Amino acid sequence: VRQDLFHQLHDVVLRGWKGRKLFIITDSNVRRLYGSRLLQALSSAGGDACLLDFLAGEKSKNASTFLSLHSALLGLGIRRDSLIIALGGGVVGDVAGFVAATVLRGVPFIQIPTTLLAQVDSSVGGKVGIDHQFGKNLIGAFHQPAAVYVDPSILKTLPSAEFRNGLAEVVKIAAALDARFFREIEREAHVITLHSTSTLTRLISRSVGLKAAVVGKDEFDTGLRKVLNLGHTLGHAFETASGYEIQHGMAVALGLVAESRIAVAMGLLQRHEYHRLVQALAALKLPTKIPRLKNAAKFFAALGVDKKTEARVTKFVLLKGIGHTVIGVEVPASVIIESLRS
Ligand SMILES: NC(=O)c1ccc[n+]([C@@H]2O[C@H](COP(=O)([O-])OP(=O)(O)OC[C@H]3O[C@@H](n4cnc5c(N)ncnc54)[C@H](O)[C@@H]3O)[C@@H](O)[C@H]2O)c1
Ligand SMILES: [Zn+2]
Repeated sequence: VRQDLFHQLHDVVLRGWKGRKLFIITDSNVRRLYGSRLLQALSSAGGDACLLDFLAGEKSKNASTFLSLHSALLGLGIRRDSLIIALGGGVVGDVAGFVAATVLRGVPFIQIPTTLLAQVDSSVGGKVGIDHQFGKNLIGAFHQPAAVYVDPSILKTLPSAEFRNGLAEVVKIAAALDARFFREIEREAHVITLHSTSTLTRLISRSVGLKAAVVGKDEFDTGLRKVLNLGHTLGHAFETASGYEIQHGMAVALGLVAESRIAVAMGLLQRHEYHRLVQALAALKLPTKIPRLKNAAKFFAALGVDKKTEARVTKFVLLKGIGHTVIGVEVPASVIIESLRS
């Protein structure tokens, strides 16, 4: 993680992957902003590089994009020792990573994340994949990047809503894992902007370090890694029930609020800690007011809860104080409903 690293990346890549064919995969927006520049820098320095892109957006994270990238790479003569470079947000990282996991049964790849969400979350951990009509991220693999290069200065061109999406994940990581880091966020929330690059550099390093430590202990998501789902059980339900009108980060912010109410109701979290969480989110201009559910049936279906049979329970990751979590808490449907209502 380093400011202005992007300008040196062609050197770093060419030194580390001497003589390899390089394939940059990006999306239509990032191609324009950074992709062509990286291609040119690599080529001028003597690298054998190609640039492939697809239309920006979650809608492209599908089998058709995945297969067209395979065709393009095979057509361009990709080999087992070639390198794929994922340059973009989480969508690019997930798709390009999954292509790297599967083409010729797997080639190495590196991540150059360009959104805050990708820099603090999706580029690290090795989960790669695509969406299916049955749901998000249903097809994929674990394929670790050989390296992740983060340049916070690249965020200056990011739309502010995308920036806030990433901030929600930063709050999640701090609230789940590190009370001191959470206090720092509370202190600095009002000065965190797209342009406060040195503050951001610190924030990103801390977040990614915490995530990497968790992934290092539970690469394949069978236990500890579930702490990273804080805010996501209800978050996903808000996202799905809104027909994806509520963006992921905003849904996570709402999920953090609603799940913390549940934690208070279950006697795990003190009320004043719940208020600290809400205030931190609000200071970062993230939503904290639970919206009226337009489609309650869809919301509860996404949770796997049948509203009428009170006996059904959903397993949550809940806070038991800032910086500490409990995994696998069974919460009765009635408590979920009451917490949302209150
Ligand atoms: N693999 C994981 O562990 C993991 C974790 C969390 C999320 N995800 C996935 O990440 C995806 C969301 O990622 P995202 O929020 O980065 O969305 P995204 O990749 O769609 O990027 C958001 C938008 O910002 C644009 N953009 C990217 N970088 C830019 C820059 N520097 N300047 C200007 N515009 C830029 C993109 O073109 C796009 O339009 C979802 O598909 C989600 O499932 C994966
Ligand atoms: Zn998330």
